[in-house]
Amino acid sequence: MLDNELRGAAAAPDDVNSSVKAVHDAYYGNYAASLADPDAFWGEQAKRLTWISPPTKVKNTSFAKGNVSIKWYEDGTLNVSANCIDRHVATDPERVAIIWEPDNPKAPARHITYRELLEETCRIANVLKKHGVKKGDRVVIYLPMIPEAAYTMLACARIGAIHSVVFAGFSPDSLANRINDSDATVVVTADFAPRGGRTTALKSNTDAALLHCSDRVKCMVVRHTGGQIHWTPGRDIDLTEEMRNASPYCSYAEVGAEDPLFILYTSGSTGKPKGVVHTSGGYLTYASLTHEVCFDYKAGDVWWCTADVGWVTGHSYIVYGPLANGATVLMFEGVPTWPDAGRFWDVVDKHKVTQFHSAPTAIRSLMAQGPEWVDSHDLSSLKLLGTVGEPINPEAWNWYHQHVGKAKLPIIDAFWQTETGGHMICPHPVATPLKPGSATTPFWGVKPVVVDASTGAVLEDTKTEGVLCIADSWPGQARTIWGDHQRYEDTYFGQYPGFYFTGDGCRRDEDGYYWITGRVDDVLNVSGHRMGTAEIESALVAHECVAEAAVVGYPHDIKGQGIYCYVTLMKGVEPTDDLRKQLETWVRQEIGPIAKPDVIQWAPGLPKTRSGKIMRRILRKIAENDVGTLGDTSTLADPSVVDDLIANRANRA
Ligand code: WTA
Repeated sequence: MLDNELRGAAAAPDDVNSSVKAVHDAYYGNYAASLADPDAFWGEQAKRLTWISPPTKVKNTSFAKGNVSIKWYEDGTLNVSANCIDRHVATDPERVAIIWEPDNPKAPARHITYRELLEETCRIANVLKKHGVKKGDRVVIYLPMIPEAAYTMLACARIGAIHSVVFAGFSPDSLANRINDSDATVVVTADFAPRGGRTTALKSNTDAALLHCSDRVKCMVVRHTGGQIHWTPGRDIDLTEEMRNASPYCSYAEVGAEDPLFILYTSGSTGKPKGVVHTSGGYLTYASLTHEVCFDYKAGDVWWCTADVGWVTGHSYIVYGPLANGATVLMFEGVPTWPDAGRFWDVVDKHKVTQFHSAPTAIRSLMAQGPEWVDSHDLSSLKLLGTVGEPINPEAWNWYHQHVGKAKLPIIDAFWQTETGGHMICPHPVATPLKPGSATTPFWGVKPVVVDASTGAVLEDTKTEGVLCIADSWPGQARTIWGDHQRYEDTYFGQYPGFYFTGDGCRRDEDGYYWITGRVDDVLNVSGHRMGTAEIESALVAHECVAEAAVVGYPHDIKGQGIYCYVTLMKGVEPTDDLRKQLETWVRQEIGPIAKPDVIQWAPGLPKTRSGKIMRRILRKIAENDVGTLGDTSTLADPSVVDDLIANRANRA
């Protein structure tokens, strides 16, 4: 008998050998157990961490409207940095924790042992303390992919401060908004960030951001390139220098399982990014468990996840999950295509990487350069591949499988979100037969439901399509939005009461496999980065020449989705190519380079309903060049607007 909730386990093939069958049965047996008795199951899993005071309570969660509350292991205490560092130092201090590969391939890589990781983390913790940072205070981290980023995150965890990492590609304005929203007292940055042969002036970006922040915010600076920077005495602190003078010992704080570990801002369907809050005990249990199980992590492996620590993948699968497991983590400062399209494979070969986890956009951009870049390298150390961030198209999957995986390595397509803390739907490397483009089956404890978007009814048939919700809590789930619990409830639990709503559409096939079809809200996924259309719109209308703007996504060969902007200019402003360039630069400056519009189409008017609502559905169709099926346009206030937009549809790549 196959329970509805065990869909996917059904895919156990009969023709596999008995050891695969045993792994399959154990994996899906655990899945069944995790749903049957979450308290017993997750109580057991928590033992993978070292607790100061082990929890006696496991799950205390409610998705009920008006009372959304999520607590795991609530009476346990621990320290996250001690779990990620000290316990490994106790058993194997000389094991390499981080292999750092710099942007410049000619510069030497660094091998940082767990002992060194402890010392550097403690030094930063001591500097933070010296400058008044206490448990619960917020520290914004605006750093490139350098070991100091991991040290600083762990240093915050060590003293119980809450970090908020801001991707180094964000603009001064975006940084200022995040410093202010989290009411941070310190921002940690570097002089410069070299990447792909270019350099971003992080310190000067931070200077510009701090003009909009409280005077009490201190700025700690890592001397990374040693380049010349502007210095504000009394506010700026030379972190590199102070680390040299700080003690390499710092005791760790006892932190409640439900005390916040970090805030990470992510885009939603309104203009203001949300500060997603993750706590300590449940998050770490979940990040470390998923890293070990889904990526088949074993002692001695060299694990490489190509994400940036500015995104959640970097938090869970570069820093917290792998380090909690005592892994050797590769941290890469550069980009896949510089100095040439063989860089990833150079690094795999050089450091004998065993698991390689990347994103569809990177794979597509490398695919476009031809397979010779891969084929000319020795990738025999690899045993597993991963992909995350957006749906992977079968063409890219097959290329990845063929050329990088030599047609034999499993590809772990992991579906999850900033809000979920760790994997939600993803295959087990041995137990789950793969289908290119499907994230396959839910991880332990995850109870997906497919819901009819218009009626909210749960679709019970195995083969079905709708929006993806989750019926019950898991330990890695975000607990709230910083300073706005109501927004958390409304965003995730308001639409389909009783369920967590992912914002994604999905299809479930006859084998119970899930196929994520992309966001159904006004969030774009551009090169695996979440961008709110409202954020880009508000940046555009902040320009003096712009009266109104509407932004939608369209299919883009490399980025997955491109950013298509319809812009209505102020009366009397001439639409010129020069202005188009100005607006592109403007959006880059307002939000960051990742938000640069791919297409700007001048729109004398936007299609609106009689009540004034912009009909994005129509704008999406025009951007996709799918104008034969515009659907119902009878509610348009002025149908001629649409004809004009179609006639003047922007040419794009
Ligand atoms: C999308 C990244 C399909 C999805 C970890 C989700 C995916 C959003 C996949 C979250 C995948 C992520 N297959 N879609 N394997 N992984 N997504 O918060 O739309 O940056 O809602 O977290 O990325 O993006 P976020």
